[in-house]
Order: sequence, then structure tokens, then C-alpha cells
Amino acid sequence: MQESPFTSTDRQSLEAFWMPFTANRQFKSKPRVMVSAQGMHYTSEDGRQILDGTAGLWCVNAGHSCPEIAEAVQKQVMTLDFSPTFQMAHPGAFQLADRLSKMLPGDLNRVFFANSGSEAVDSALKIAIAYHRVCGQGTRQRLIGRERGYHGVGFGGISVGGIGPNRKFYGSLLAGVDHLPHTHSLEHNAFSKGQPAWGAHLADELERIVALHDASNIAAVIVEPVAGSTGVLVPPQGYLQRLRQICDKYGILLIFDEVISGFGRMGTGFAADYFGVIPDMITVAKGITNGTLPMGAVFVRQGIYDAFMEGSAENAIELFHGYTYSGHPVACAASMATLDIYEKEGLFQRAQSLSDYWEEAVHGLRGLPHVIDIRNIGLVAGIELASILGKPGARAFDCFLRCYERGLLIRTTGDIIALSPPLIIEKSHIDELFSMLTEVLKELP
Ligand SMILES: Cc1ncc(COP(=O)(O)O)c(C=O)c1O
Repeated sequence: MQESPFTSTDRQSLEAFWMPFTANRQFKSKPRVMVSAQGMHYTSEDGRQILDGTAGLWCVNAGHSCPEIAEAVQKQVMTLDFSPTFQMAHPGAFQLADRLSKMLPGDLNRVFFANSGSEAVDSALKIAIAYHRVCGQGTRQRLIGRERGYHGVGFGGISVGGIGPNRKFYGSLLAGVDHLPHTHSLEHNAFSKGQPAWGAHLADELERIVALHDASNIAAVIVEPVAGSTGVLVPPQGYLQRLRQICDKYGILLIFDEVISGFGRMGTGFAADYFGVIPDMITVAKGITNGTLPMGAVFVRQGIYDAFMEGSAENAIELFHGYTYSGHPVACAASMATLDIYEKEGLFQRAQSLSDYWEEAVHGLRGLPHVIDIRNIGLVAGIELASILGKPGARAFDCFLRCYERGLLIRTTGDIIALSPPLIIEKSHIDELFSMLTEVLKELP
């Protein structure tokens, strides 16, 4: 193994970058740095191959460094590097929106572009509140999220999000937000394969919140159909259907945050397809460009878009919202090339056809030291470890470090290991991944 240039001679060069969601001092004392990536593997700066068990950060669904995306990006930069989309446009944004709208279920056929999941979420929340206003129901301003939900890091996203540490430093957040209870229960659902049987009734908590505030004050409910960042929480059977019914009963918009579950992760285009529940809006990012360039989007039901069009004069700007880079031409080109690969290589179907093998492999870890729950759906898995008393998160982080040393990238949140490999994964990679993880779990103190 070569010596890392970062751990010896060049420490000062690590100081300037304030790393996000990272223990900066710990990392900088012993950095983990990737220098290239191909297919299922990263190459670390000390020259080792690292099997990617997390598709980067839930985003590289078609595997790393696809030449078709690189070519499309290069061509676009040389042809039209940038064009505004405020009162101007370029063909790529229309072509991409049209193509995406045809992939979506129901009448989710209008697309608002952003540059990240966080921006997509904040855009969707704003559209929801503004929608009710243009419909003459301006009192509908309250938003409802869920405990343990992750919706990015904008003020909207952390307000509806349900992860304590992401919220506690940031003051009063958005006013008028309630949270549904999360659906995680080791007592009832530990080691469930796919959707757990217990917990649909937790959606009825929405009735309680409606009774408290009155539906006339509530704009939208936002949930991740499968909560990813908080440790892979799979929705109980019937839960999302129940949420949909209650939202319909009270005229509340339902938003699915599919930043993780979109673009094939479940073995279908979107989790909405997988669960057969059509929300009013879907937020996406990550897999939309295979992680190559920042892009996010909100898919909106046609009726919502139409309400804005009908609610104002023809020369009026209907929505006072947008980003300089909404529908950026280079991101659009990267996304088009990404969708070509998904389609040509049948990657969503591939994920579906591998999901049984994946399920068996992950549940094969049952009985190993410290493992107190295993959850899975599509090509996602969560493995929950018993916490060390007084040191929450330490055991899983130790596992992460040991896996990295062995040549496997996993992700951990608290004491939960989350796995979400690129959809190009082969059965031999799955075997390799779980054999490395097994060895590490066996040696964990
Ligand atoms: C469900 C969900 N929503 C929103 C986000 C935020 O996306 P970004 O980091 O691109 O802002 C994430 C990121 O992991 C996510 O998982």
C-alpha cells in the first residue's frame, strides 16, 4: 500500500475544505480519499479498489464514469454552455421535461427543475402553499412531515424533516409544521423481508393532526416512501395507501420525496409505481444525472400546474420561484444520457430481477454479532446494530472504517448500515459485498 500524500507531507492542504456532514478533525487526521471510479469500484488514493455498496451517495445508479454521459456533457459544454431559463430557454430543458413526464405515473406530467434534492423539496413545499393560494384557499399553509424523515438541508427541508441533530442548531425553523410518527418498530417488525406487516395504522395520526388544526389550514404532507438517510425504513403494508386516502379526504396535497427511491432503486421507475400510490408531487435528484452533475426536479400533477395557469393573466409570471441553474443545459444533457443508459440497459428491471437475491443475501447476516434488525426492499438494505452503551453510532462507524480498509464502501447513520449499490451490480459483487461485511461484523468488538 502506498503512503497517502494527505497523511504525511500535505496536511495543510486539507484544512480549507469544511466538509459537509463529516467529523472534520477525525477525517483530516486519517483521510479517506477517492481518486477515480469505474463501474462498481472506486480507486482510493492509496491505490486500492473499493467496491461501491452505496452508489456513491445513493446516486450513481448506472455505475461510475459512463462514457456516454461524459460525451454528452462535453458536447453540451462546447455547444451551449449556459442559457437562462427565466423568460428564455434552450431545447434541452423541454426535451428532458417531456421525456421525464412520460416516465411518470398518472398525470404527474409537469416538471420544475432545481439543482439538488434540498432545492427540489423547498420548491415542492412552496408550490404546495402557493397552489392553495391560487385556488382561493390561502389559509392552507401548514406542512406535515414525519419523524425520522430526511428532506435535505434547506430551511423547508429541515423543518418538515424529522432528524433531531439536523434541526436543533437552527432556531425556530419554519412555523406551522407538524410531524407524523415514524414507522420504525423493532418490537413488531424486526427482520421483516420487504414491507413489514405492522404499522399501517400510524398513517391515521394524520387524522389527529387534521382534527387539531383543521384541514382548511393544511397545505401538504411530505414523506419519503422509503426513508433512506435515517436508516432504510420500509413503509408498512397499506401505510402509503392510507396516507393517500386521508389526504384525498381533506384536500391535502401528498408529496413523495423520491430523491433516493427514484430512478430504479425499487426495481421500478419510482416508488410511486412500486407501491401503486400516486402522490400530487414527487421530488427527485441524485439518479436523475447518475450523480454526474447537480440536478433536482419536482414532478407536479397537471391539475396543479393548470391552477397556476388559470389563476393569473396571460402575461403574468405564474410562480415567483426558480434558480439561475433551473434546467441547466449541461445537467439536462447529462440527464438525457443517463436516461438513455437506464433504458438501453434495462437497469430498473435489472434491479427488480436481482432484488430476491439481494434480499436473501442481506438476511443471511441474521444471527451475526450485534445485528438486531435487517430491512430490505428493491436494491436497498438496512442493517441495524446494537449500540454501544453511551456511544450511539460508534459501532456502525467502526464497521464503516473496517469495511473501507477491506475494500468496501458502506454508509452508516447512527448504528444502522445502509446499502444501495449501483443497479449494474452482479451477483458475484453481491456475494463479495456480504462476505466482506460478514467478516467485519464478526471481528467488531
Ligand atoms: C429523501 C431525500 N431528500 C432530499 C435529499 C437532499 O438532497 P441533496 O443532498 O441533493 O440536497 C436527500 C439526500 O440524501 C434525500 O435522501
